[in-house]
Amino acid sequence: MSPEWLKDTVFYEIYPQSFQDSNGDGIGDLQGIIGRLDYIRGLGCGALWINPCFDSPFMDAGYDIRDYKKVAPRYGTNEDLYRLFDEAHKRGIRVLLDLVPGHTSDQHPWFRASARAEANEYSGRYIWTGHAFEGIEGKPYIAGMTDRSGAYMLNFFACQPALNYGWLERTRQWMSAVDSPEALATREAVKDVMRFWLDRGCDGFRADMADSLVKNDDDRKSATSAVWREFRDMLDREYPEAALVSEWSDPALAINQAGFHMDFYLDHHHNGYNTLLRDYETEGGDHSYFLKDSGGDIRRFLRDYLPRYEQTKDKGYISMFTCNHDTFRPARTLSADELKLAYAFILTMPGVPFLYYGDEIGMRYLDIGTKEGGYQRTGSRTPMQWDRGKNMGFSDAPADRLYLPCDPSPDAPCAADQSRDARSLLSETRRLISLRREHADLQADAAFEAVRAEADPPFVYRRGSLLLALNPSSKPAVWSSALLRGRRTAYTINGARVAEDRLEMDPQSFVLLEV
Ligand code: NOJ
Repeated sequence: MSPEWLKDTVFYEIYPQSFQDSNGDGIGDLQGIIGRLDYIRGLGCGALWINPCFDSPFMDAGYDIRDYKKVAPRYGTNEDLYRLFDEAHKRGIRVLLDLVPGHTSDQHPWFRASARAEANEYSGRYIWTGHAFEGIEGKPYIAGMTDRSGAYMLNFFACQPALNYGWLERTRQWMSAVDSPEALATREAVKDVMRFWLDRGCDGFRADMADSLVKNDDDRKSATSAVWREFRDMLDREYPEAALVSEWSDPALAINQAGFHMDFYLDHHHNGYNTLLRDYETEGGDHSYFLKDSGGDIRRFLRDYLPRYEQTKDKGYISMFTCNHDTFRPARTLSADELKLAYAFILTMPGVPFLYYGDEIGMRYLDIGTKEGGYQRTGSRTPMQWDRGKNMGFSDAPADRLYLPCDPSPDAPCAADQSRDARSLLSETRRLISLRREHADLQADAAFEAVRAEADPPFVYRRGSLLLALNPSSKPAVWSSALLRGRRTAYTINGARVAEDRLEMDPQSFVLLEV
């Protein structure tokens, strides 16, 4: 069973570097987030996911952790994070931290100890071969940098050595079994980190690279799933209100088998999610469904989504998101009108949706240089645009001291302007979130069914007793059906009218029909 509170919650993802600087050093901090909690509450979001905010050399924006139990000084202190939990809870907002269980920084004390020549408590905490001249076939590794004679395996970048959960298929003597003392010690160490934060007010975790734990796992990731089952059992016993969301994008495995409450539907080329917003790396142009007149076809989404949904609908939640810190912002190619329809869809789907900071105002993807291992991801990580003041309200620091530059365009969107405009993307997003909160049939559990899915609009779908329709094209769309009889328009974007058994939709419109 999932924690009850997930059912009507919309999450807000915060990249802490770029949300709000409270002390004028040019980088966001925890006190800054606390100061913006009322904004988040006003948006209607009931939970946060904060990217790693722990001590780190920041070679991968904090996904290279040096101390799991210490807030990075640039964001404040542990006490600031406890205060953030507290202030968020006062406003009915839960807080998920980022759990990075697959690797640490190569500067983590565990890794430094494991790299020593003499055997010690941490020698088995990471994956090492038997000697410095033996590599790891088919896997990334580093040799020759340590006193220990051995090559160590990497989980992502060169700064991120892989923690040792053992190998399911063991072809070398140095490969630990999944139930070896050293692999079990890694599990205990991660549980200890989870308990540390949960005991201090944290409400759960987003799990980084959740499928990456056990090496040479089988196709169904059975051994990695068993590790997560153990973590989930611990939560069920000790912290039943805590939530776990996976970066996995295979909900049948992540939810049904590994025990996650939610699994992200990630942006992978040509999967269903990708065809909605970012189908631009395709030959023959951009066929994203929400790009006006792109020739996008909702059936491409449904073919991929429906089997995932059917397999998991009674067991956990697929999490659709507007964007995340690894993905191009949707405003890179979509206009505000297009984004309104895309968000209307994401916010009326089953599961638990996530909004990435700044997407509610249509922040743009900026073409800028890399920062902290961001590369092309950096353009989606720029400072939140609050108002027309200095650095768009993000920071008092001189502009050249900011973590990343603000969007320099004179028409860069900002929250203050859009708050005053009922037709803005921000106002529409607020209304959509409150619509979801008002109707149980729009929330996580109510049934989803595609009612009319053709090459041409409208796309009509059902959530519980509600009927919804989308017309992303620049032409009006009409649909006749006995299903429309007795229904009335409860919410529209642009315009739509229903009379008897006929629905007329204006160009680029969305409608919610009640009985
Ligand atoms: C996925 C995270 O979302 C990404 O930002 C990070 O670079 C890698 N995992 C490695 O931790």
